[in-house]
Amino acid sequence: MHLETIILAAGKGTRMKSKMPKVLHKVGGKPMLQHVIDAAKKAGSSREVVVIGSGAELVTEVISGVEFVLQEEQLGTGHAVLSAKKNFEQAEGTVLILCGDTPLLTSKLLQDLTEAHEKSNCAATVLTAKMPDATGYGRIIREEDGGFGKIVEEKDANEFEKKIREVNAGVYCFDVQKLFGALEKVSNDNAQGEYYLPDVLTILKDAGEKVSAFTAQYADETLGINSRVQLAAADKIFRMKKNRELMDSGVTIIDPNTTFIDYDAQIGQDTIIHPNTYIEGKTTIGEDCAIGPNIRFVDMKVGNKVTAQFSYCHEAEICDGVTLGPYVHIRPGTTIGENVKIGNFVEIKNSNVGKDSKLPHLQYIGDTDMGSGVNIGCGTVTCNYDGKNKFRTKIGDNVFIGCNTNLVAPVKVGDGAYIAAGSTITKDVPKNNLAVARARQTNIEVWNDRRK
Ligand code: UD1
Ligand code: CA
Repeated sequence: MHLETIILAAGKGTRMKSKMPKVLHKVGGKPMLQHVIDAAKKAGSSREVVVIGSGAELVTEVISGVEFVLQEEQLGTGHAVLSAKKNFEQAEGTVLILCGDTPLLTSKLLQDLTEAHEKSNCAATVLTAKMPDATGYGRIIREEDGGFGKIVEEKDANEFEKKIREVNAGVYCFDVQKLFGALEKVSNDNAQGEYYLPDVLTILKDAGEKVSAFTAQYADETLGINSRVQLAAADKIFRMKKNRELMDSGVTIIDPNTTFIDYDAQIGQDTIIHPNTYIEGKTTIGEDCAIGPNIRFVDMKVGNKVTAQFSYCHEAEICDGVTLGPYVHIRPGTTIGENVKIGNFVEIKNSNVGKDSKLPHLQYIGDTDMGSGVNIGCGTVTCNYDGKNKFRTKIGDNVFIGCNTNLVAPVKVGDGAYIAAGSTITKDVPKNNLAVARARQTNIEVWNDRRK
């Protein structure tokens, strides 16, 4: 099957009341338009032509791997398709038309529709759905024999038509040349003064062509997003579906209602996700982990048997067996080696922490390369910034750093070295040495008596 797709994404999205084009608003952490493009590609589409207009520049910044055509003025969905006419002069066979604001479409549904269309020898097939609440959608008016009659937009509908719950999903298969032929005949004589794409169906029918309607099994998959309330509803449906897929693949999710896992995230078998957890972007988590409660991971690579709670980690890597939290912030460019323990108010930035090291309480580690088996005392700070430039701290293997140490970078601490608590280290410490960098203690006798 050869399939090409047109995706309409030029509308202002007035009802969103947003500065951003509607189709860039995210569902499951991914722009709605990207969901639609991905579904088309997965359904076997070999070419996607996206019609853009409102906020076109922003759309082309975010979306790639498709052809764009510009609809200068947004005069309606029919007018939008017409702006892609030039791109289809040589085309034949079926063209699939989708809207950029229906993010829950599945590739399976698109395949089923296309197959039904190609078997039927129709000039057009429209996807319909039976919505519990049809408000805002075009209604499907059936013929007496149940065949497709026409589509009436909400704003043009009479009281009787408004009661119809079968709606136009905004998804169509057309014979491409018949589509563009009929589009020229669409007028804007309607309540909104727009050129409606659904009118093409009536024009084709009147010309004696066969037009049919294909009803989606799951209406949810065809939800069109026009407002923020609908956006939240779609996001909820998406989240629940993602959670269900993960549970089906062997992940325990203690409370799906408070677990938010993005589209691209992957989680391994027998990992447990505790409540109030956000797994965002392209995060991957291995097997046998316990994640949460209260975790936010963004674009993280997490190994197996990792335990993490009450923490925020982004654009970093955590290797197998790490224990993390509570209250840890892992910042970009960090790699935490195997079996490391980090907890209780620790921040780590752009650093490498070698395996089996321990950073148990109240540390700031920035721009640091740390070996394995290192023990960092409570309150230790790497002073990596002089107000102008950043410098690195290098700590060897099996180093012991006493509490409340300042390591003023650039500085190196050799393998097996010790640093006395309370030191401010400004010079390199050779391996196996003990560094003491603090004033010696002086005890003044009978001080309290003298004061009196
Ligand atoms: C449209 C359908 C309606 C259907 C619903 C399904 C029409 C006239 N109505 O209504 O029957 O039930 O979708 O969700 O087609 N767009 C452009 N250029 C324009 C206008 C719109 O590219 O000039 C794009 C929008 O960006 C959007 C899509 O077309 O992605 C649909 O437009 P929208 O205004 O949301 O149409 P609805 O009122 O939802
Ligand atoms: Ca819409």
